[in-house]
Amino acid sequence: MQLTAEQLDRYQRDGFVVLPGLFSPEEVAAMKAELARIQAIDTDHLVRERIGGVAKTIYRVPEADGPTASPVFHAAARSPRLLPPARQLLGDEALYVHHTKCNLKTAIDGSVWQWHQDYGTWKNDGVPEADPMSTALLMLDEPNEANGCLYFIPGSHKVGLVEPEFDDRTTSYKLWVVPKRRLLEIMERSPDPVPIVGKPGTVVFFHPLILHASGHNLSRFDRWQVYFVYNRVANRPREVAHPRPDYVRSTNWKPLQVGTDDVLAPLKEATDA
Ligand code: SIN
Ligand code: MN
Repeated sequence: MQLTAEQLDRYQRDGFVVLPGLFSPEEVAAMKAELARIQAIDTDHLVRERIGGVAKTIYRVPEADGPTASPVFHAAARSPRLLPPARQLLGDEALYVHHTKCNLKTAIDGSVWQWHQDYGTWKNDGVPEADPMSTALLMLDEPNEANGCLYFIPGSHKVGLVEPEFDDRTTSYKLWVVPKRRLLEIMERSPDPVPIVGKPGTVVFFHPLILHASGHNLSRFDRWQVYFVYNRVANRPREVAHPRPDYVRSTNWKPLQVGTDDVLAPLKEATDA
């Protein structure tokens, strides 16, 4: 799949582009079943909510090995629906996945993600530049304002990196966030945040410097979504003093090859074997 010139322009202008209906209901159902299986595993490759203990986020699902590996996410990350658009956006054929998160913002218990820029974290990982990175968000439920959809500040990727501060108090997930005073200054001169809503199967590519956040899930419906963070192999992390573990800062820098568009096939093969 190729993005149109208009979609590429929109990404440059707003810092994100929404692609509805990229994955089918059957594919989404299979991915949800995989995450339901994985969330029961006792591993450090996932973070649980402080309240309720359900998985808040699961890492490293598109790799071929490890406790959270899943054939359907392995195929999706390499599929013609995600990898060629990522190559277009990053202007390079040689990409790898720096980080993956499956955020299972579960009904009632699923908690807030404070305002942040993802590159605040990737920079601390040793990644030299922001522009050669882009994240594909895949909706597995139907995010809305009640169940804690994401909000973007359109165009905020042009602000550059705002020196982040470390928040290890608000939720069980430790996050580099935008300090409140700077956030309010930027908000004052920016368009209002927009809710990122859509049907299951929608994909949204977004820039690593866009300001984004999401609220608590107050509804009785889950809001599960997956994030594949693509990076140019040439922009892989440089050495840092205390690198985060491989399940959050990948060291698999082999360039991804475009694989099958039938992302369910590897799952069926694994089940049959
Ligand atoms: C994130 O920004 O990294 C996750 C936010 C969310 O899933 O709501
Ligand atoms: Mn984020």
